[in-house]
Amino acid sequence: MNPKVMDILPADADGLAQAAQILGTGGLVAFPTETVYGLGADARDGGAVARIYEAKGRPSFNPLIVHVADLAAARGLAAFDDTATRLANAFWPGPLTLVVPLLGAGPVSPLVTAGLSSVAIRVPAHPVARALLEAFDGPLAAPSANPSGKISPTQAAHVAGGLEGRIDALLDGGACDVGLESSIVACLPDQPVAMLREGGLPREAIEACLGQSLHISDGTPDAPNAPGQLMSHYAPEGQVRLNVTTPQDDEVLLGFGAVEATLNLSPSGDLTEAAAALFGHLHRLDAMGARRIAVSPIPEKGIGRAINDRLRRAAAPR
Ligand code: TXA
Ligand code: MG
Repeated sequence: MNPKVMDILPADADGLAQAAQILGTGGLVAFPTETVYGLGADARDGGAVARIYEAKGRPSFNPLIVHVADLAAARGLAAFDDTATRLANAFWPGPLTLVVPLLGAGPVSPLVTAGLSSVAIRVPAHPVARALLEAFDGPLAAPSANPSGKISPTQAAHVAGGLEGRIDALLDGGACDVGLESSIVACLPDQPVAMLREGGLPREAIEACLGQSLHISDGTPDAPNAPGQLMSHYAPEGQVRLNVTTPQDDEVLLGFGAVEATLNLSPSGDLTEAAAALFGHLHRLDAMGARRIAVSPIPEKGIGRAINDRLRRAAAPR
């Protein structure tokens, strides 16, 4: 691919108009969402979607999430049963992605869904993402804006560090406040409602809304729950060891709670704060050249489940 000069656009009316114009001509624009930065392209334009896979070095069997302005726009792409409708009404806009049956004659390029008969859709809550969807006035395919397998971006500088020279523009909207990707729930015919990826919306909140527990895919490397949930992912350069209370001399400690640590996800032990800090701290550990990273135990509840999911993948053999 020819190196591209990436425009860094401010998140104001001019920046948004330019971003929408680039997207309208098949270009790639990274933009902030409340979870992580996304790398957007027109979901109806196969050439543009192909450029996403190329820029990220992403395997093309790993389908993308489509971002739309609201449930009405989502219904133009896919079928929403009662469960999907209830979840969308309760949690959109917000950090929830729904995997639902694709409409037969819908506009989404088959490259977005990697040929599946279902599609992942979400309505982001970040004001810049919402303004971009309004200005563009169409569905945007957008994976996280990082090279495939690397740490997801929660700040514009992370995107620039990973994708400079590979994308057309970056809308700078500051730091993402959730800091972890959306939770993914599948609502498909003749299948139990299933959690495919733990994420920014805690499982407990989804189950409380439905009044039933979610089927949990096992997520083993042989049977990844969402096709892209490969075991090694979100990986910093250094080696990661989890659930450490006593770090070794050559380890840098990524702490949680009241511990002596080089970097701390939340000194007060707050899981929401830890989620927002996680990817930024992993990026900083890379910048520091940390070779061996020990991580404090994180409680397996609420958004802690998603933090532990990302940490297990960061620690997995590569
Ligand atoms: O928070 C987020 O979800 C961010 C922001 C940018 O919206 N996006 C994101 O996208 O995390 P990405 O591409 O990094 O992860 C999308 C996940 C992948 O694991 C993919 O396999 C899964 O969604 N996925 C997409 N379509 C699917 C489908 N039809 N069935 C099952 N899983 C699907
Ligand atoms: Mg990703």
